[in-house]
Amino acid sequence: MASITLTVNGATRTVEAAADAPLLYVLRNQLGLSGPKLGCEMAQCGACAVLADGEEIRSCVTRAANVAGRSIVTIEGLAAVWAEQRGLDATEAAATLHPIQQAWIDVQVPQCGYCQSGMMIAAADLLERNPTPTEADIREAFSNTPPSPHLCRCGMYPAIIEAVQRAARAMAD
Ligand code: FES
Ligand code: FES
Repeated sequence: MASITLTVNGATRTVEAAADAPLLYVLRNQLGLSGPKLGCEMAQCGACAVLADGEEIRSCVTRAANVAGRSIVTIEGLAAVWAEQRGLDATEAAATLHPIQQAWIDVQVPQCGYCQSGMMIAAADLLERNPTPTEADIREAFSNTPPSPHLCRCGMYPAIIEAVQRAARAMAD
């Protein structure tokens, strides 16, 4: 066992875990963050995606110990990222979702929902790098960005594209 200190959704958390414990296990089982999902456990589906310093990583194949010192954001922390970027006060922040989350609701993207935490994390990564993506950019980001495409067994890809475009417009306002 090792003592691992992580920064997750803006808070410093120390856990006792196996030295090779996957970040996903620590997030879900020790920190109670159930947004990231266990799918393939092989970096091949995207269900477990989280942000590390704003960049998407696959938490199923990332050792928790290897991201100590990086800022980890799960879907549970996405609204706070937006609140900080926009300088919202505590009251406003408590009532405001990230535009990506709001777009997902407005478009009614999820069917079963299992993949959608990872999809929104991928959207956050994309819109940070490219605030005005074309449809081709969105398809490229979700389909051809290593280590693998983000997979949705329910086939909600058209709705995901629409929601990313909607979120981009909202974030530009
Ligand atoms: S569970 Fe991590 S990529 Fe599938
Ligand atoms: S909404 Fe069911 S797997 Fe994507």
